[in-house]
This record gives sequence, C-alpha cells and structure tokens, in this order.
Amino acid sequence: MINKIDETRKSFDEDLSKVDSFASLEELRIKYLSRKGLVSQLFESLKDVSKEDKPKVGQSLNQLKIHTQSKFDEMKETFENNENKSESFVDLSLPGRIRPIGSKHILTQTLDEIKNIFKGLGFSVYEGPELESDYNNFEALNFAPDHPARDMQDTFFVTEDFLLRTHTSPVQVRLMTEKKPPLRAIMPGKVFRNEAISAKSYCLFHQVEGLYVDTDVTFAELKGTLVAFAKQFYGQDVQYRFRASFFPFTEPSAEMDVWWQPKGKEGRWLEVLGCGMVDPNVLKNVGIDPEKYVGYAFGMGVERTAMLKYGIGDIRILFDNDKRFLTQF
Ligand code: PHE
Repeated sequence: MINKIDETRKSFDEDLSKVDSFASLEELRIKYLSRKGLVSQLFESLKDVSKEDKPKVGQSLNQLKIHTQSKFDEMKETFENNENKSESFVDLSLPGRIRPIGSKHILTQTLDEIKNIFKGLGFSVYEGPELESDYNNFEALNFAPDHPARDMQDTFFVTEDFLLRTHTSPVQVRLMTEKKPPLRAIMPGKVFRNEAISAKSYCLFHQVEGLYVDTDVTFAELKGTLVAFAKQFYGQDVQYRFRASFFPFTEPSAEMDVWWQPKGKEGRWLEVLGCGMVDPNVLKNVGIDPEKYVGYAFGMGVERTAMLKYGIGDIRILFDNDKRFLTQF
C-alpha cells in the first residue's frame, strides 16, 4: 500500500509537469482528485489495510492528499494569473491606430495660395475690420448717398451708420488714410451680403482686395499683374478676357473673366474679379493728391476662385463643414 501511495505521488508529479493548459490541468484533477480519482480510490482501499499498519498508511495517504491538492491549486493559480496577463498583453508588432489629422480648409488653402502669389509680385498684406462704417464702405468710395450703385449690394446694416462690410474695398480707404504712398498691398477678408442663398451666392464670402498707388501706375501694369496672377494660380494655359465695367470707386473699370470648362459639360466665361484705376475722387477723400498720384485696384472673390480651380459646383458646400468634402483637399 505504501508503495502504491509513492507511485501515485510520482505519477502525479510527472503528470503535473506536463500540464500546459487549462484542459490538461482539468484532466489531472479528474484523474487524481475527483470523487473517483486515484487518491479517493486509495482512501477506499484503506479499509483493507491491517489495523497495525492503518495509522502509518493513513498518515502517508493524508500527506499524498495534501501534496496533490496543494500542487494542483498552485498550478491553477499560475494558469489564472497568466490568463489575466494575456488580456493586457500588448502586441508591439501590431500596426498603430491611425488618428485622423485635421487639415486646412480649402478656402484657407486658396487664400494662402493667393497671398503667396501676390507676395511674390511685391504686395504686402493688410487687414481691416468686418464691421465697417457706412463712410468707409460706401461714401469714401464715391458712392453718393442716393447713388444707384448703393443698391447693387444688399447690405446688413447694424445701425444707420455701421454695417457688415459688403466688400473689402473699405480696407483701401483705411490703408490710404493711414499710410502715405507708394502703397502696394492686398487685403483679404470676409464680406457679407444680404442675398438669397443659392448654389451661386451665400450671405458670407471672402474677397482679396489689391491696391497699388504711386506716381506712375498704369492700366497696363494692372492687366499685367492680374494676368501674371491668373497664370500662376490657374495654370500657364489659362484663358482669360477683360471686359469694360463700372464701379463708383474706379475709372476706367473692368472685369476679368476666366474660361471655365467642367469635365464633359459645356464651358463658359466666369467673372473672377473687378478692377480699375482708382477714381481721383477716392484719392481726394483719403487726402492723397490726385494730381501727383495714380493707383489701380482690384477685388476678387475667393470662393469663386476656389470653385473654378477645383471644379466645385455649389458654394454652400464650402460652409457645410462636411468632412467627406473637406478631406478631399
Ligand atoms: N469691390 C468690388 C466688388 O465687391 C470689386 C472691386 C474691387 C472692383 C476693387 C474694382 C476695384 O465687386
């Protein structure tokens, strides 16, 4: 009997050393520690042992039971700990999670591009406020109080004398009032018009104003500058034309059109900017002597320009903040 107990202990130790999973641990438990397992069977056969031997055999049987049970428990604990560990195991070979990276809005990109081109042509950048006086937005720019041109722009008035600027031209007035010529600057910013919202017009958009005032500025220079811009911005083969136009603050005035050719559709001329020679009245209004100085000015819509360049058909999409659209640029 003692031999049997020793053998069982040895075979248990051996089996234990082979345990490598929860399944084989369970097999071990069934084989030795279950109700019909080898250890219980040995306890069964204790009744056949002679009275004198019983205490000794009983003692080593108890030791076997303690030994097997404690070894089993130990092993079980090890397995459970390992399992917990494997849950928090970090697989360093896995690729990282890609986080979405923000990007500049297409309008900001377009504005940056326009600014860079004009900086390259010798223009500096100047900015003015979005809330303007009626004087700067209209009066100083030669719109008489009852001038019909005032109706050309439907305006958001804040008070009788203050409004949300309808164009960036009031920044010309500020620049010419604050600084003395020669002046050469572009003036980017938001402008507001109280118009019905549609695919073509929005209540808010951006313009870039340009102004050059010196003693010998010519219309030919104005054209040359705008053509140089269009070639850099739209491409060397851009098709353009100048049309005579009217603005109260320039004389003579013109508009520049660029040929728009959407894929698979009929092309057409699109107006991209207004321009002209600064009206002598405007120079007088800002205290610059029109006998001594001449200037040219131009103003372009940024949305228009971006839509034309990137083939965007609806201006509203530029203000929707839809990531599916924005991430394309
Ligand atoms: N301010 C004019 C507009 O908003 C554009 C313009 C600017 C025209 C400068 C001529 C000179 O339409």
